[in-house]
Amino acid sequence: MHPAILSPSLLAGDHAQLAASLKVVEDLGLGWIHLDIMDGHFVPNLSFGPQTVAALRPRSKLFFDTHLMLDEPHRYIEAFAHAGSNLISIHIEPAYDHVATLAKIHALGCQCGIVLNPGTPAEAIEPLLTKVDLVLVMTVQPGFGGQAFRGEMMPKLRQISEWRHQRGLKFRLEVDGGIDLTTAAECRAAGADTFVAGTSFYRAPDRAAFAAGIATLS
Ligand code: DX5
Ligand code: ZN
Repeated sequence: MHPAILSPSLLAGDHAQLAASLKVVEDLGLGWIHLDIMDGHFVPNLSFGPQTVAALRPRSKLFFDTHLMLDEPHRYIEAFAHAGSNLISIHIEPAYDHVATLAKIHALGCQCGIVLNPGTPAEAIEPLLTKVDLVLVMTVQPGFGGQAFRGEMMPKLRQISEWRHQRGLKFRLEVDGGIDLTTAAECRAAGADTFVAGTSFYRAPDRAAFAAGIATLS
């Protein structure tokens, strides 16, 4: 199993000072930052785009874990790759050529991920498991930070973790939405290794303790 890592979600950072919110993460010695990109169609909210990602790139060495919540992600892959994303994750739900889009992400030198909404069964992504570096299981309906964790996603997480083990695959298994130290432990037990946390990280009274709590999940 991969070691547990934290990917704080910049969505919960200070949008007037995003670079400072990145620095908070880097100063703790963490490696990843989660960048939530929303189009107002696939999800009922807007966040920021490739220009913001490109502006942040020279300010940070963090691994840019980019979560595209877009109806037409295939139209924006080059933009996010050129902006400096290290990993680009796309949702399975909209209709477009998922295989070609994952291949395009790789061809541009990035890692690729596939994402499932709470209502989407594990089987929907099964044919793609050999093609991805990461599977992201949403533990809330995407669109907003600060929502309640959906524990009923644990069987889906266990199923994907089991497939990974049975098939000798190495993709990371990420969870996103309502993650705190308690829900992260529940997800870890179900096979997750990569933990997105927005509200619980940025609002933590002691962020170093929160990060240490994730790192020591076994
Ligand atoms: C939800 C986003 C999440 C969000 C998580 O649409 O994909 O990454 O920032 O926020 P919290 O950790 O507050 O649930
Ligand atoms: Zn996200």
